[in-house]
Amino acid sequence: MKTRIFSITLSTIVLTSLWAVEVCAQSSVDRDKRVERLLGKMTLEEKVGQMTQVTLKAVSSTQEGSGSVHTLDDAKLKHALVKYHTGSILNVWDASFKLEHWQQVITRIQDIATQKTRLGIPIIYGIDAVHGHHYLRNATVFPHNLAIAATWDREHAKISNQITAFEARACGIPWNFSPVLDVARNSLWSRFFETFGEDPYLVAEMGRAAILGLQGQKIDSPSEFVAATAKHFVGYSAPLTGKDRTPAWIPERMLREYFLPPFKAAFDAGVKTVMVNSGEINGVPVHSSHALLTDLLRDELGFKGVVVSDWEDVLKLHSVHQVAASEKAAVKMAVLAGIDMSMTPYTFSFHDHLVELVRDGEISEDRINESVRRILKLKFNLGLFDNPYPDSRLATGVGQAKYHKASLAAAQDAITLLKNDKNLLPLSKQVNVLLTGPGAASLPPLHGSWSYTWQGTDESFYPKDTRNVLQAMRAELGEDRVSYVAGASYADLIDVEAAVAAAKNVDVIVAAVAEKPAVEQPGIIENLDLPEAQVKLVQALQATGKPIVLVLLENRPRIIREIEKGSWSILMAYYPGMFGADAIVDVLFGDVNPSGKLPFTYPRYSGSLEHYDHKGSEKQASAYAWTAYNPQWAFGHGLSFTTFEYSNLKLDKSEMLPDDTLNVSVTLTNTGKRAGKEAVQLYVSDLFASVTPPVKKLRRFTKVALQPGESKTVEFELYKEDLSFIGRDNKPVLEPGEFEIRAGQLTARLVVKAASSMGFKDLF
Ligand code: BGC
Repeated sequence: MKTRIFSITLSTIVLTSLWAVEVCAQSSVDRDKRVERLLGKMTLEEKVGQMTQVTLKAVSSTQEGSGSVHTLDDAKLKHALVKYHTGSILNVWDASFKLEHWQQVITRIQDIATQKTRLGIPIIYGIDAVHGHHYLRNATVFPHNLAIAATWDREHAKISNQITAFEARACGIPWNFSPVLDVARNSLWSRFFETFGEDPYLVAEMGRAAILGLQGQKIDSPSEFVAATAKHFVGYSAPLTGKDRTPAWIPERMLREYFLPPFKAAFDAGVKTVMVNSGEINGVPVHSSHALLTDLLRDELGFKGVVVSDWEDVLKLHSVHQVAASEKAAVKMAVLAGIDMSMTPYTFSFHDHLVELVRDGEISEDRINESVRRILKLKFNLGLFDNPYPDSRLATGVGQAKYHKASLAAAQDAITLLKNDKNLLPLSKQVNVLLTGPGAASLPPLHGSWSYTWQGTDESFYPKDTRNVLQAMRAELGEDRVSYVAGASYADLIDVEAAVAAAKNVDVIVAAVAEKPAVEQPGIIENLDLPEAQVKLVQALQATGKPIVLVLLENRPRIIREIEKGSWSILMAYYPGMFGADAIVDVLFGDVNPSGKLPFTYPRYSGSLEHYDHKGSEKQASAYAWTAYNPQWAFGHGLSFTTFEYSNLKLDKSEMLPDDTLNVSVTLTNTGKRAGKEAVQLYVSDLFASVTPPVKKLRRFTKVALQPGESKTVEFELYKEDLSFIGRDNKPVLEPGEFEIRAGQLTARLVVKAASSMGFKDLF
């Protein structure tokens, strides 16, 4: 696949020179031999130990994080590493650590692993560094994935992850449980913001870029890179009720059409590890599914790396899902399904049960060897056998200015201008502003969960110099120009009368409405409505007649239908990260021309959760007065302070055979008065097909920067895979017939002259 474009964004902060790394001496053949030699020396207990992963709290002197000092507990460490031969540790305490503390923790752990155990096998330490290495106090924290997807610029996904890898490695951490490749098909889901949006192709492209950023081009050059994790395999993002870790019902056609493509792209990009979906699909917990974890993942998709369970999920086959009558049966089920490593995360019962299962002949030692081989190989590949310790040379690089610049650039490119009546934005820097709302003077709603702590709500761990919106705006306009009244908290009214009174003396109101950060089960909500207090605050301010700008800081699209009409301008800021406040102010006052586009369909009604690639039966309001597809804003929507015109959409052929390459070109012109960037989106519509075709499918995109009056021609290539779909037999198929190719408002017709099928095995 090829997309040609005549300019590269972010050239000023490309970090390539930084990634010059030593190439490990041994070839992969030598390494395989070393793995086999080591495996040959290991006892069953030592092997099963490698398959066990415990949390840092399990080897720390107290499990309570906040407010107390973290210390490792040597006795617990020895119990885990020496007695149980544990091969992996993950995560944090309840709090982010300083760099020096991370280095001490990793050093002590590796000292015991390499010096006090019989074979001296290093630990592989894993962490969630999902938008920067946010469990490090002075790390560079980026916008969350949903915002990165809104940039429609793969470079942001790649560069932010290169920096994340570097800062994790500086701590001595070589394994990142990222990126999330779940496709956001249910807006209620509490991990919506962790995804790259609702479209499988966009998720696949951003995910691939993230993996290349984390792992580098060559995993053989490991010292500044980490192993990435494609998670959560597969179908985690589509629980029927929207509630995290509750049942999903996903027919095979849908699984293959919507949820598999990002994982397939990740495997093609060489991702080293996979984490399993905690939930159940069609009544089968994924941790127990041989069909998904072996037949599909290994045999069909050819994944060769390490499969790690999610949190406690092996035992939950017994305790939650009730498909195993005992913990031991749960261990047997998960290992036979295809799990290599169990995130236990506190206990060693997985170890005890698995040893017994092998001794009883219920699981073969060959099956254990397969997993241990993969784990040891990963450790070799990451260079841990050469040097398991933090590389002190990297320490001074953490949080450097060019990393901060990359985080700011990503936030600036993400912010999406959803509405701009009467061209209210950009505001003049001479206006007087009332700033209000729960997102105005607080850091968590700019960062979201997974920020310094799991839920991200403890502001005491945030760096003291991170600016909230109020601080950033006052720095830009001066103290006197910006008045601030809280108005409402996330869920309660505070001082609406004071906000209304303050509005009388200003030129414009900026209301930063916000969702309280929350993720996984703490983030479960009953409906998508924006909390009533915030709606009331905005309505009271709208009644003053003053122009009002809404800034949305959200986990997922909260319904704002009732306050959309009275708001002149609306900015979607997602969770924009540590420089999010600066980026918001830059867009409000015109230092940055917004170029973000929604990576999801913004619903108008809580009960009408639609997707851009909906079917014909959903698209037309017809009889009986029901309202068809009618979102608040469409996928791919986003305004600019300039105007763009699409022209000359050309196909190099109007008819094609399956093996032909279709060359598509389109010209984009900046017809306005400001420089700007536009995400060019190329869609394909199959007009008639044996499975109801979606109205359109995103097939290519690229971001183009243009000066006023400038034009650029963008070229794309499309292949049969881009025109195919999952057919009635659950296999991909290209059917002959008519297609429409679209860019902007332009369309071109294509006729495919012959069919082509591409085989898959049945899954269920
Ligand atoms: C989450 C994973 C995460 C793991 C380790 C789980 O609860 O589902 O995404 O990687 O915890 O923190």
